[in-house]
Amino acid sequence: MESVVIKLGGSVITKKDEPLKERIETINNLSSQISSVCNDLNLCIVHGGGSFGHYIAKKYAIHIGLPRIKIGLSILEMEMRRLNLIVAKSLINHGVPVIQISPIDIFSTKGDEINVFHSKPILDAINKGYIPLLYGDVVFDEEKGCRILSGDQICLELAKIISARKIVFCMDTMGIYDKDPKKHNDAKLIKKISKEEVKRLISNFSKGDDVTGGVVNKLLVAYEAANMGIKSIFINGFYHNMLMRVLRNEDYIGTEIY
Ligand code: ATP
Ligand code: IPE
Repeated sequence: MESVVIKLGGSVITKKDEPLKERIETINNLSSQISSVCNDLNLCIVHGGGSFGHYIAKKYAIHIGLPRIKIGLSILEMEMRRLNLIVAKSLINHGVPVIQISPIDIFSTKGDEINVFHSKPILDAINKGYIPLLYGDVVFDEEKGCRILSGDQICLELAKIISARKIVFCMDTMGIYDKDPKKHNDAKLIKKISKEEVKRLISNFSKGDDVTGGVVNKLLVAYEAANMGIKSIFINGFYHNMLMRVLRNEDYIGTEIY
């Protein structure tokens, strides 16, 4: 069976401009698409933080290390688990057999590197026919105290251990454009990008507002994935059945980085 990692972007599953607000209809719609293919694939699902994670992380300045207000980290972890529960409930209601796994329990970092990844719970779940469900999370860091480990980075780690050849990123745009499509009306969607071209693109894009670096972070992950023979596909998570089409290897509109 083909192994695939799916990232449900925070700007798709939450209202990014409204703190702690999920988009339940969109989550249900994505769950229904996943349920139509979940028996034919080895899947891992990861979701972003959106207006749960990024909002709390900024409020307590958690992205720069342990917060001055200690409880802030506890609140961030609690709110991410709450969002994870909302996503898990929706997937389970649609018949998708997910097992929730919290990244803070299995990952820790040292500087920019992941130095501990306890992958057994993930592999055990997959071997028993379940689908691990993780999320971008705060994790403990040996130097800084803590840091945000983005869902995108977690996707890459999962792809490596389950030998996935494909990571599908559901975003709130149709894919990767030559410039930010929200700021430029004439931005053009790039359908295919080779790993050599990605490097050039990364240096052209300035960093976004998000604590995990927005689209630049995605491209860095896609570049690293491409170097390992894993392709990244960027699609619009709001678009009718687009995720299902990609998972079924049918035609889709989006960006492939290879
Ligand atoms: P999602 O993956 O659903 O977008 P996310 O929160 O992980 O959730 P962001 O970090 O918000 O994603 O990054 C996506 C955003 O990056 C888009 O909404 C878009 O406005 C912005 N963006 C900036 N430059 C580009 C570009 N060249 N191509 C596509 N999106 C871009
Ligand atoms: C961020 O995860 C998690 C936290 C801020 C705790 P992501 O970086 O994967 O989230 P999105 O998809 O950009 O919202």
